[in-house]
Amino acid sequence: MKLATGVTALALAAMANAATFTVTVGIRETDGQQGLGFDPSAILPQAGDTIEFTFQLPGYIKNGVDVQHTVTQSTFEAPCTPKEGGFDTGLQTTTTTGGKTFALPVNDTQPLWFYSYANNDCNAPMVLAVNPPLTGQTAASFQEAAKTATINHPVPHSSSSSSSSQPSKTSTGSGSGPTGGSGSGGGAMANEINSVLAFSAFLLALM
Ligand SMILES: *[C@@H]1O[C@H](CO)[C@@H](O)[C@H](O)[C@H]1NC(C)=O
Repeated sequence: MKLATGVTALALAAMANAATFTVTVGIRETDGQQGLGFDPSAILPQAGDTIEFTFQLPGYIKNGVDVQHTVTQSTFEAPCTPKEGGFDTGLQTTTTTGGKTFALPVNDTQPLWFYSYANNDCNAPMVLAVNPPLTGQTAASFQEAAKTATINHPVPHSSSSSSSSQPSKTSTGSGSGPTGGSGSGGGAMANEINSVLAFSAFLLALM
């Protein structure tokens, strides 16, 4: 699985236009700290790109806590309900070391909607919009709807009895403000932009 992901990444890197969109699970986009969110919470990949969901906390988080989340595909109409046959990581632990990564190839630019079904994550709202329309079914309206939506879990494939009781773990993040003051947030997209800027500066320095 790891190998396959690596090979896919290499193959995509060889294609000029393919990009990887890294989304960190369990980071608030607003302040870059651990909490109930995807960072970033809206992305615009193209066909051939890959979304990489990572449960690995970024290195700048010094006092990370292990918290369970999921990345589960839903629909705009029911933000916190699994889409039939959709993508689902199942419960995973966001953690400082050894956090798992899941790759999802993007095949077109149709909107895709995701949430975390752990605890009350989805109502936070811990949701992600992929290629959301700029009018009508927007990322903002999806987030708003998720705040009051009923949270449903995927039905286990092979289960003898009915309801699965999910381990309930105290959620962290809400309430504890940013520890590092300003500038520590940003997320993957900002990091990429920073890298591009740094590289440009490097090129300029060579001239
Ligand atoms: C894109 O296609 C691949 C291969 O069929 C599939 O595994 C993946 O789930 C698709 N991506 C989305 C977002 O549906």
